Amino acid sequence: MKPINVGLLGIGTVGGGTWTVLNRNEEEISRRAGRPIRITHVADRNVDHARSFTGGRAAVTDDAFAVVNDPDVDIVVELIGGYTVAKDLVMQAIANGKHVVTANKALLAVHGNEIFAAAQAKGVMVAFEAAVAGGIPIIKALREGLSANRIQWLAGIINGTTNFILSEMRDKGLPFADVLAEAQRLGYAEADPTFDIEGVDAAHKATLMASIAFGIPVQFERCHIEGISKLDAADIRYAEELGYRIKLLGIAKRKEAGIELRVHPTLIPAKRLIANVEGAMNAVVVWGDAVGATLYYGKGAGAEPTASAVIADLVDVTRLHTADPKNRVPHLAFQPDRMSDLAI
Ligand code: HSE
Repeated sequence: MKPINVGLLGIGTVGGGTWTVLNRNEEEISRRAGRPIRITHVADRNVDHARSFTGGRAAVTDDAFAVVNDPDVDIVVELIGGYTVAKDLVMQAIANGKHVVTANKALLAVHGNEIFAAAQAKGVMVAFEAAVAGGIPIIKALREGLSANRIQWLAGIINGTTNFILSEMRDKGLPFADVLAEAQRLGYAEADPTFDIEGVDAAHKATLMASIAFGIPVQFERCHIEGISKLDAADIRYAEELGYRIKLLGIAKRKEAGIELRVHPTLIPAKRLIANVEGAMNAVVVWGDAVGATLYYGKGAGAEPTASAVIADLVDVTRLHTADPKNRVPHLAFQPDRMSDLAI
């Protein structure tokens, strides 16, 4: 079957993970998508670095607009980040009738209304599972799994860097700056780590989750934001002595007056499940009127966990928008032509 051609913009931590996982699990991914998914074009400022991944199997350029304007590209994966060039690229891809997959929470939290409106007008998809909570399929859960519910509130640890910092400070008594440097080395932190530390990244993600959960426009500017920079080791220790853990939470709550949106360090009783989410792990609790409380847990940052979400979106877009009509239904648990693959 004819492959779907992907243009990858940015082959850094997440882009590299996307290349690796897509190649490693090619057979399963193609089967689930209904046709093969191939990264045929890569744009990166560092073409030598890009070629170290592609090894001649994709066209490499430092001109991201050339990829977005290439008629051979079916889906654009935007992993450049930031608000400026990334916005122009995404808008251009949409104008060209291409579906977009992005991990760019900052872009969508700030310009999402304009981007989603453009995509709707053009009939293309802007998918962003990777923008929130890394590998946890929280967007899918909110959009699909919980679609019967009136959601009352959601609260989550949605920034791996700050959770990693708080955990390491508590467990190892390490200084803030050292742990931040380690988070940067591990590829968890944003290009500008003040976004992590000051709660801005969590606010971007909370804004996106609230938009889906409550069906409201993205309203990042209305989010109350307080990060962890004013916390010190003594705060963490005292909380511990009193039977609490301090976690940076993103919270969205339905109130009579409207939706309340906030990010701040929160004292959580130590015996709660979410208080025990450590390191760069993320967790989100969503409360729906029919289902009650649900909890989603997993790796919130890093190359392959985030790539997992990027590729899930690629599979969705491929299956729902480009595959043969008979392949558009969700893939079956088994396929009739694989009846010989019996469990042992
Ligand atoms: N800087 C982000 C974090 C990366 O630490 O969670 C994943 O969005």
